[in-house]
Amino acid sequence: MNAAIIGVGHHVPDNVVTNKDLEKVMETSDEWIKERSGIKERRFGDAIEESSSRMGYKAALMALQDAKIDKHDIDLIIFSTLNPDYFFPGCGVLLQRDLELKEIPALDIRQQCSGFVYGLSVAKAYINSGMYKNILFVCSEQQSAMLDLTTRGRNISVLFGDGAGAVVISATIEDKGILSTHLYSEGAFAEELTLKYLQGKGTVEEKDDNLPFMNGPMVFKHAVLRFSQAINEGLIVNNLKPENLDLFIPHQANLRIAEFIQKKLNLTDNQVYNNIEKYGNTTSASIPIALSEAKKKGKVKPGDMVCFAAFGSGFTWGSAFVKW
Ligand code: ACO
Repeated sequence: MNAAIIGVGHHVPDNVVTNKDLEKVMETSDEWIKERSGIKERRFGDAIEESSSRMGYKAALMALQDAKIDKHDIDLIIFSTLNPDYFFPGCGVLLQRDLELKEIPALDIRQQCSGFVYGLSVAKAYINSGMYKNILFVCSEQQSAMLDLTTRGRNISVLFGDGAGAVVISATIEDKGILSTHLYSEGAFAEELTLKYLQGKGTVEEKDDNLPFMNGPMVFKHAVLRFSQAINEGLIVNNLKPENLDLFIPHQANLRIAEFIQKKLNLTDNQVYNNIEKYGNTTSASIPIALSEAKKKGKVKPGDMVCFAAFGSGFTWGSAFVKW
């Protein structure tokens, strides 16, 4: 059985926070943020009303509708988030409850920005093996609540935003679906992009470990290298050349990283979809949000060759190749 993405959806909070808004709470500037990252605005949702599970629920409804599938036909939930509603249980079971589904399994994954490509890999393996037929895979990231919106946290907080994306992945005998995934991690760099979050051992004011930390230049250096390696591996495995890609959606980490990859692969603007200027970095949700928008705009059609690639905290990285 092949594993095809048959529905996509997304949800972002209504509250738009522009770079100018951030200038009011920290020492930064619209020019600095745009020049270094390409971001103009992002969405910040209420920590409870727009929690990771709540945003994920809204994205899931849209994906189910797009897939034209009865929600009761879903036989597995996969949920990716770096900020679950609760320390435990994970968001997968909250989504299963909110969708009022029968007692299907719910699996949470913790691969941060690479969550989408890792999750596609899990879904593909389950469907290829015949174990599940219709998988609801949701990536949702409530990040604004954990950001340090003062000058101290500016190197990170200007980059991130809230949002959710979802896909329905189903078994098919048609010649389409997830062709291959290429996954990696290197835990030696775990502390270069981290939130140690010592739950219950101090407040944000008292303890730096409760705040996200990022070694920006090091992340940048590794990202451009690892993105390229994972994409090139997939191109070789699938006997493709960059010009054969109809759509490339990179994880929306930083427009400068996406543009570097585009240039390296010699891809045209038409082959690449970026939307970081509107949403910032929404971690694992960034690719499915962009995919949902791209599909709405008619940028992905049956038979198209699509490539996703991501790099992030862990470090983890990977790519996925999909025949639409
Ligand atoms: N506004 C104004 N000035 C700032 C800001 C800000 N928001 N943040 C940092 N600065 C200052 C720094 O304090 C520093 O000042 P100094 O020279 O007086 O010390 C100066 O700007 C340069 O800081 P750098 O960190 O060296 O800036 P750099 O050019 O590396 O850009 C950035 C920072 C944008 C974070 C860059 O390193 C980057 O894009 N890294 C990759 C990060 C990334 O993509 N992360 C996400 C991927 S992983 C994931 O998605 C989880």
